[in-house]
Amino acid sequence: MSSNNIESVLIENRQFPPNDEFAKNARINAEKLAALHHHAETDYTGFWAQQANEMLDWHKPFSNVLDESNAPLYSWFNDGEINVSYNCIDRHLADKADKNAIIFEGEQGDTSFITYKDLHQRVSSFANALKAKGIKSGDRVVIYMPMTPEAVIAMQACARIGAIHSVVFGGFSADSLRDRINDAGAKMLITADGGQRGGKIVELKSAADKALAGGCPSIENVIVYQRTQHDIPMQAGRDSWWHDAVANQSDDCEPEWVNAEHPLFLLYTSGSTGKPKGIQHSSAGYLLGAAMTNSWVFDLKDDDVFWCTADVGWITGHTYVAYGPLAVGSTIVIYEGAPTVPDAGRFWKMIEDHKVTVFYTAPTAIRALMKLGDSYPNAYDLSSLRLLGTVGEPINPEAWIWYHKVIGKEKCPIVDTWWQTETGSNMIAPIPGVIATKPGSCTKALPGIIADVVDDDGNSITEANRGGYLVIRKPFPSMLRTIWGDDQRYKDTYYPKFDGRFYLAGDSARKDADGYFWIMGRIDDVLNVSGHRLGTMEIESALAAHELVAEAAVVGKPHEVKGESIFAYVVLKGERPAGGVDEELTKTLRNWVGEQIGAIAKPDEIRYSDNLPKTRSGKIMRRLLRTIANGEEITSDTSTLENESILDQLQGKA
Ligand code: WT7
Repeated sequence: MSSNNIESVLIENRQFPPNDEFAKNARINAEKLAALHHHAETDYTGFWAQQANEMLDWHKPFSNVLDESNAPLYSWFNDGEINVSYNCIDRHLADKADKNAIIFEGEQGDTSFITYKDLHQRVSSFANALKAKGIKSGDRVVIYMPMTPEAVIAMQACARIGAIHSVVFGGFSADSLRDRINDAGAKMLITADGGQRGGKIVELKSAADKALAGGCPSIENVIVYQRTQHDIPMQAGRDSWWHDAVANQSDDCEPEWVNAEHPLFLLYTSGSTGKPKGIQHSSAGYLLGAAMTNSWVFDLKDDDVFWCTADVGWITGHTYVAYGPLAVGSTIVIYEGAPTVPDAGRFWKMIEDHKVTVFYTAPTAIRALMKLGDSYPNAYDLSSLRLLGTVGEPINPEAWIWYHKVIGKEKCPIVDTWWQTETGSNMIAPIPGVIATKPGSCTKALPGIIADVVDDDGNSITEANRGGYLVIRKPFPSMLRTIWGDDQRYKDTYYPKFDGRFYLAGDSARKDADGYFWIMGRIDDVLNVSGHRLGTMEIESALAAHELVAEAAVVGKPHEVKGESIFAYVVLKGERPAGGVDEELTKTLRNWVGEQIGAIAKPDEIRYSDNLPKTRSGKIMRRLLRTIANGEEITSDTSTLENESILDQLQGKA
């Protein structure tokens, strides 16, 4: 990892200043940026109070800005009252009622356009339907939907009545869905008969039925959006169709004014243990980060069409699809299908068709599309684009340059945005009209975000390019509030070191001589597969739960397109397969993990051994396993190994 990064510095001393045309029209120019930084540095809470007043509409103004009395359980604006849905929709009705809020395209090419006025009506009537089914402020609602406008409508409707949603990505399995429903204690599940992806139907309802059959005692009602119209069973008394639920509802629904700290949503993400954590976000602080970064980093203005390709099942789909762009009155594009249907030109065709101006996607998608050749993007008119973004993992310079040249035609700044499910919104990212970019660096922290790289003792690392822990020195409004139902785990995970003085992001990073941040990777046992976070422990527990498996260890291995691929070492309860190969069993175990967690967690490779390499104290030697997975030579001392004879098996040589 580190050697790769050192190499990239040597190659990537190129800098790309914003072009004059972009800089001239950008929302934030150099003076404005300097003033924002100055304000945040000299009057931290005053800075945030001003942003909160400028960016958000308050029902009851706040007078407290930051409350640190219960640190690290911070709260912001905690005597103010607000409604997120009001801020995303109602406040635009005076001047943007007929503007498109959502442009939707299905995989088969079906499109629909939803204006702010339409959105207001549809969110309101669905909110009334939720209330009619007994959903009240503070109740949890799980959303397991295809990437359609109805997913956003469901989220906004929850926000409108103060219900706390938890979106579960449609690619997660029935078992994952059940665990999340139960951890959240959700009263309602909103799903669909299916989704459409890759020319096939994603069987959401059948997965939902399986999850509920596995025991979800808190669920009282299920609402099913009809998307695919294929035959699915409906359970009388529990399930109702979306269209029936809204049929007689008024399309007027007074927003529920909630405290600024009222939880807006939970979003489950992987950590170092086997159990995903329910990241809890607030209403006002979260929305402030979302609005601010859509304005500053994505520079969204009245005539922009913003397409963030993330699914609402991830944080990116919350902040840069469902909430942030609407909070600033923009137009979003939503696409349900796969990027390669009918061919690898789909994204580029959609950019042409909908005149997308700002495009935000993940390095894994860029790499995958880059490999398929320039002829696809070159076949379309991409001249509407003025700004590009990436997120999810460090982008390799080769993909960056391709994105810059072939997609951006060398005129669009690229915002490489570092942030996390926990931070709620972009933390380290260029202000596109001001900050020169360097391929592979997320550049500098935004105003009000005090990011740093520190050593083991918590001291700032001042030496250029020396790696350390990435931390955020001060609490910020859009940060997570806690892990749902588990304050202790929140403290242990994010404030375990440095006497709780700063938020530990879980990444290692370094700063170069210009003070630019370069993310080096995770410091915990978390993998980044196609920009999605997966805990090695989660996959290990899934494998170990199979009746034939005694023990498993999972490591990441660099992968050209996915960033990291999943490499599993498995010890069986019975005999090790002859020569360490059993393709049938490997298929069975991969599918098993798919059922336990979801298709994204399926190991790419499985190697069988009689034992796992452990130290005398019984710790699995993960670094050794990583070295072996990468096919690198073992240079570390293996003499402390209890069972040195298994090395050949682990290397696939026996
Ligand atoms: C982890 C957070 C934030 C939305 C997508 C992933 C990695 C994220 C970048 C970037 C280098 C990045 C970090 C981070 N990461 N963005 N621009 N450059 N690394 O959200 O699942 O919460 O994962 O993704 O390792 O900690 P997430």
